[in-house]
Amino acid sequence: MHTFTTVEALREQVRAWKHAGLRVGFVPTMGNLHDGHYSLVGLAHAHADKVVASVFVNPTQFGPNEDFARYPRTLDADAQGLAAHGCDGLFAPTVAQMYPCGAEQAVQVRVPGITTILDGAHRPGHFDGVATVVARLFNMVQPDVAVFGRKDYQQLRVIDYLVRELAFPIAIIGAPIARAADGLALSSRNQYLSSAERAVAPEIHRALLSMRAAVQAGQSLKAVEAETAARLTAAGFAVDYAAIHRADLSQPADDERSGLIALIAARLGSTRLIDNLALGETAA
Ligand code: PAJ
Repeated sequence: MHTFTTVEALREQVRAWKHAGLRVGFVPTMGNLHDGHYSLVGLAHAHADKVVASVFVNPTQFGPNEDFARYPRTLDADAQGLAAHGCDGLFAPTVAQMYPCGAEQAVQVRVPGITTILDGAHRPGHFDGVATVVARLFNMVQPDVAVFGRKDYQQLRVIDYLVRELAFPIAIIGAPIARAADGLALSSRNQYLSSAERAVAPEIHRALLSMRAAVQAGQSLKAVEAETAARLTAAGFAVDYAAIHRADLSQPADDERSGLIALIAARLGSTRLIDNLALGETAA
């Protein structure tokens, strides 16, 4: 696996691959990689000949009171894991390379509409930071295809919008959510959980399964949302939202039944967890 420390070296290799007629896939990450990230590398390989992953903890997508400083940074282990999973290139830029005029003076990309609801409402500015860094990464890597996890469903929708609006010649692929055996969606933030919190955390996935069953049984969407929030609160979570939306994240009518997705964000102690489930699916 090549490790690129400059944009120039990365571009030279990508150019050579493309010149040889190879398709280039891209998996952007913030590192501290787990099997969820590695499943994205595998999916990228199904759509491309060469796969580049990036590791960059992006300061502009963290709020002032969020976990930017303590976000786990494990670049050596990430590089080993990526190589073991058949990744062809690792791009790990510094903050100065990503934001040459400083993060405060950065040209920003702001996606309207869906960035103000759900996580956008609870993490103001978060998706502006995501869109800003992903647009830069796309320009640096210049991939043919990029893979994003459905775990961050709203992020995936934001990236779809960004690519359509700015005419990036990049196909966006959504990857299934990788879960622990007890249903908890894999996340770099799971390691913040105490053992007592870790035992409670899979309740989010169980709540999503119950939401699907209740919607399929014909219950009112508003009632399902309220019951889920109450259930999670009783289990010890501080609930940011337990919501049912259409797949494009618009608001469904209370009796709509098809093309829906349930999304949950809830905090256990200082750890914020998110997860979602398409309500038509039968598998988790
Ligand atoms: P990060 O949280 O590191 O996630 C990188 C990618 O891995 C995202 O596309 C995310 O949806 C995916 N992912 C994380 N956990 C997953 C799981 N359990 N199953 C499937 N996919 C999973 O998301 C980001 O970084 C950043 O916002 C980024 C896009 C890199 C921009 O900074």
